[in-house]
Amino acid sequence: MKVLLYLLLISSCSHLRSVDLAPGEKKSDHYSRGRKIMITTQGPASTLAGKKIFELGGNIYDVAVAISFAISVERPQSTGIGGGGFLLHHQKGKTPKALDFRERAPHRSSEKMYLDKSGQEIKGLSRKGIKSVGVPGLVAGLIQIHESYGLLPLKTVMKPAINLARNGLEIYPELFRALKIKESVLRKFPANLKVFFTKGKLKQKGDLLVQKDLARTLEIIARKGSSGFYKGEVSRAIILESKRLGGILSQKDLDGYRVKSREPIKGTYRNHSIFSMPPPSSGGVHIIQILNILEGYDLKTLGVQNPKTIHLVSQAMQAAFYDRAMYLGDTDFEKVPVTGLISKKYASSIRKKIDQEKFLELKGEDPNFYESLETTHFSVMDGDGNVVVSTQTINGYFGSGVMVPGTGIILNNEMDDFATKVGNLNLFGAVGGSKNLIRPKKTPLSSMSPTIVFKKDKPILALGSPSGTKILTCVMSTILNYLEFGLSLRQSQELVRYHHQWKPNFLRIEKPGFKSSTMRKLEDMGYAIKEKSLGCKVQSIAREGDELIGVSDLRGQGMAWGI
Ligand code: GLY
Repeated sequence: MKVLLYLLLISSCSHLRSVDLAPGEKKSDHYSRGRKIMITTQGPASTLAGKKIFELGGNIYDVAVAISFAISVERPQSTGIGGGGFLLHHQKGKTPKALDFRERAPHRSSEKMYLDKSGQEIKGLSRKGIKSVGVPGLVAGLIQIHESYGLLPLKTVMKPAINLARNGLEIYPELFRALKIKESVLRKFPANLKVFFTKGKLKQKGDLLVQKDLARTLEIIARKGSSGFYKGEVSRAIILESKRLGGILSQKDLDGYRVKSREPIKGTYRNHSIFSMPPPSSGGVHIIQILNILEGYDLKTLGVQNPKTIHLVSQAMQAAFYDRAMYLGDTDFEKVPVTGLISKKYASSIRKKIDQEKFLELKGEDPNFYESLETTHFSVMDGDGNVVVSTQTINGYFGSGVMVPGTGIILNNEMDDFATKVGNLNLFGAVGGSKNLIRPKKTPLSSMSPTIVFKKDKPILALGSPSGTKILTCVMSTILNYLEFGLSLRQSQELVRYHHQWKPNFLRIEKPGFKSSTMRKLEDMGYAIKEKSLGCKVQSIAREGDELIGVSDLRGQGMAWGI
């Protein structure tokens, strides 16, 4: 019966991505069912690292820390110990907590550091090379999580990552693609030649990638904890390389790095509570803002791929991205009208401006009136309802491109997530606002959105994704597909995705797009359409009854595992 319903749904909705399994079948790297634990990550070796630590008696925090270090090795193009991240977690019977271990602006940074004398942006300076580097936070964050909540020794938890770095991994298509795109940047920093090149030639798909220096650095961290990175020989190597390349990082920055505990953003959508990452992420605020706007429509009756549904969702996205540029920044430095932005009344005022038939550029009212290309994500949930969701990054492919000699550490280019100037665009085309200008020690605005959805006090959905500004819309639409349209978790992820971020002013729809009549109708409504992948690789876990269902996005090369 279930299979029949599923086939009916596929045939009535011809735009589902290819589905290799029907419900009930169990064998797929991307899809798993279990009861005790579920893990979804963007890398098979990282999922297996989590599995190993669980089998050794680790709890979800040990598993999360093991995955984080392993994915730093497995996806050096996406994340690493030279980067940072956000993590949301929930312990049964308690309210969720958020941890911010994102990069901070060095103390010698300044508002105009990427502008020339005439006030023009110096192209590429915030994206490539040593000047694009923010103070890394990943190691501080992971060690704090492990010390606060882990059960197993750090050395045990880090072992899979160390082995992976030392023994090597086969270069898979996504990694090879990133290497090819960034080859010329990587060549500029000689330490990369030892790792990503063989006799001066870029390694190829299928070649073994061994990261011996990184293995050594990880071993030092496993022995010494946080100080293995922020002090001693590793920190000396970072600062030396920064000085050699004319950067501004200093030991004072590393000594002064602090992980920040933050209160998660909370919203609701039809009897469900949603907890997500607060500023300096824009993710949580705008996921809730968009869902608030959409809650006022009967989308379920309209249907998931009805042009009107796509239009209403896109308008809500566009309005949110306008507000993102206007109001979002690090709340430790800026006044951000969070309560207004996530209030139902503000959503209702935006809804009133939406024309049901045509696209309008929406610039919301002042929410103060209502005042109250790369990255990675993984999710872990256990049978008791404990959850860890974390998004981690070095920002663009291979971050700044700078590998610190002798350490294997690739430094981030997270400074590009600041506004280099009001109105300038970052790597993801997001418009920079005044609240996101650079200040020493400030955290750049992010879209990373680790999120947990609850029904009463039970977590029923845990998810997140990589892909810059698209993260928040991909997370939002997975939630919408699952809660509003009642699709299975797998279908919720597999449906064609779309994204509108105000500027650039087009509706980005992933291939193969919608049926041609829907595409035409959207154009008639006034949308400029661009067919392009959104890059999201959602890693999600649903809890349905006693069962945990894990889906690692079929668009990527990740893996779900559960038992
Ligand atoms: N570096 C991408 C983000 O934080 O949104």
